[in-house]
Amino acid sequence: MSVTQADELCPPRGSAVGHEPQLSDIAASEVVGAMVDGVLVVDSFGRVASANRAAGELLGYSEAELRGMPGDRVLTENGSPLLFSDEQLDRLMRGEPLVGMALELVPSNGTAIPVHVNCSALRRDEGELSGLVLVARDMRDMLRLMASEAAERELRRHSALLSDMVRQRTEELERSNQQLASNLRALARTQEQLVVSERLAALGALSASIAHEINNPLSYVCGNLEFTSDELARLMAVQPMPQLDELRAALDEARHGADRVQSIVRGLKAFSRADQDSSELLDVRTVVSLSIKMAVNQIKLRAQLVQDLAPVPLVQASSARLGQVFINLLVNAVQAIPEGHPDLNRIVVSTRTDARGWAVVEFADSGCGIAPEIRRRLFEPFFTTKPIGEGTGLGLSICHGIVSAIGGEIEVDSEVGCGSRFRVLLPAAGPPPARTSQQERS
Ligand SMILES: Nc1ncnc2c1ncn2[C@@H]1O[C@H](COP(=O)(O)OP(=O)(O)OP(=O)(O)O)[C@@H](O)[C@H]1O
Ligand SMILES: [Mg+2]
Repeated sequence: MSVTQADELCPPRGSAVGHEPQLSDIAASEVVGAMVDGVLVVDSFGRVASANRAAGELLGYSEAELRGMPGDRVLTENGSPLLFSDEQLDRLMRGEPLVGMALELVPSNGTAIPVHVNCSALRRDEGELSGLVLVARDMRDMLRLMASEAAERELRRHSALLSDMVRQRTEELERSNQQLASNLRALARTQEQLVVSERLAALGALSASIAHEINNPLSYVCGNLEFTSDELARLMAVQPMPQLDELRAALDEARHGADRVQSIVRGLKAFSRADQDSSELLDVRTVVSLSIKMAVNQIKLRAQLVQDLAPVPLVQASSARLGQVFINLLVNAVQAIPEGHPDLNRIVVSTRTDARGWAVVEFADSGCGIAPEIRRRLFEPFFTTKPIGEGTGLGLSICHGIVSAIGGEIEVDSEVGCGSRFRVLLPAAGPPPARTSQQERS
């Protein structure tokens, strides 16, 4: 087997002085010499027969040093000497190249260089294998590029994951924030109710003592006024004295005024002693119906009455006290609606059971509504927006006292010009009410 010589592969280019060769004159060996890929020619004994400049540079040997060197010293596969399989040899013998073999060049400094190698056989005329041509492409830049692309892809994946996590966390935070805000609102409401309750409790105690102090002298005043007025009437019956008519009218006015003071004192007592009546297990719908009956004539003058009395749990309360609450709320609803347009206005009285299983009685009217700035004062005794002589301002404070005494609550929703909705919530005392067939269907 003849050895392919390096000088055969890259002979010095013959050139006449002053004669520039044409491109077509350039020998293949020169082309090989100029290639960026390393080219090694190995003889049939596996020794390097020749190498181009690029191979020498990659391996760190001169072409002369390479010549005769065992090919498997400079070319390895996964760190082991390169060995062709029978199948690969067969292919080479058939003249088929081996393309894209992932191998390493082992340079003089020992640091392997990853290369892709295309290998083709050199054969003699008789077909006998005389050597191999190995073209090795340095893959370091390509691998670096692939690694940086993979790193970039990984980075993008991580940043997508990160932004996903940030979005999720932000959503969670927003949810917690909303929860916090709603808890805060509930807390503020409770605090407001507590302040109102405390103030009303203090006012209740004060009212009780005022009522007590006024009541005694008032009973003398009323008694004496009645006595004087009766005596005067008796005298005038025996002997008419027109000159005393004015005196009699003044006495009647005084009696009227005293009656009014007495009714205020009764209201004060009711407000301060809301829990001192005997209570019983009752269905609030009975009390609601009775209260409506008592107020129906007033209601008819100003509004249409709508009743929607769904079953409610039994509550432990005094029916007289609860009746007082409902009548107060009904009268307030009536008074919030101007007279004369009953067909345009509505008062809706409804009962239902809330999520806690409490009995709820609601009085909704289409009246004037309540301005936000006076809403927090509604339950204060003597707070009224009605003209002097028309309202004492005790109605709602009495309602609050009675309802709080049995562990209930009163809520108000209102919009000026649209109407108001007063809700009395009472804790259940007995077993839950039987469900109606209509409720079961819904
Ligand atoms: N349904 C309602 N619509 C509009 N305002 C109302 C309603 N209920 C109560 N109010 C307002 O609340 C105030 C206090 O009511 P409250 O029942 O305590 O006293 P009053 O009705 O003014 O007097 P009283 O009940 O002693 O006759 C009323 O003056 C009115 O301004
Ligand atoms: Mg009232």
